[in-house]
Amino acid sequence: MTKTQIWSAAFLGIFVILFFLQKLAGTEYGSSPSMGMGESQSQPNETMASSNATGEVLAKQFNCITCHGVDLKGTNMAPALVGLSAFYDRDKLINYLRSPNDYMEQDRFKEYKGKFKNIVMPAYGNKDVKDLGKIADYLLGLN
Ligand code: HEC
Repeated sequence: MTKTQIWSAAFLGIFVILFFLQKLAGTEYGSSPSMGMGESQSQPNETMASSNATGEVLAKQFNCITCHGVDLKGTNMAPALVGLSAFYDRDKLINYLRSPNDYMEQDRFKEYKGKFKNIVMPAYGNKDVKDLGKIADYLLGLN
């Protein structure tokens, strides 16, 4: 090889490396180049642990609103989630969400059983406690 050939080979090599680096960066920050960095960075968070989501958003993501209603004011499937602070503190509410069955002996729940016969409040013991805490904070603020 002549000196010129070596140089051009080296340049070609560098371009190939740069090209792949750019590709790598592209997949990390969202594949579409038109997307702003802030926008694309929020994408992975939606599928991962909901670390940045507020209690209100989580209540939607966990489908609480399917039964309790968009505004959580109750439907014919589930009771309203307002004024809960009269019955729960934060820990108790988290506990409830993790295993609602432990509470079924209380009179209020016997009444619910009659009203919402075929619907059961699901247990959320498989969810991140921090997320449940955020939901609890949000619910306790509803009146
Ligand atoms: C499949 C329907 C359904 C879904 C989904 C659901 N719930 Fe419920 N929930 C119920 C029903 C029905 C009750 C009444 C108790 C019972 O019969 O099990 C209830 C009761 C509750 C209560 C107790 C209310 C009280 O007065 O003590 C809370 C708190 C609650 N749900 C919160 C939530 C949250 C938060 C979510 C989402 C993470 C959620 N629920 C998702 C059906 C549902």
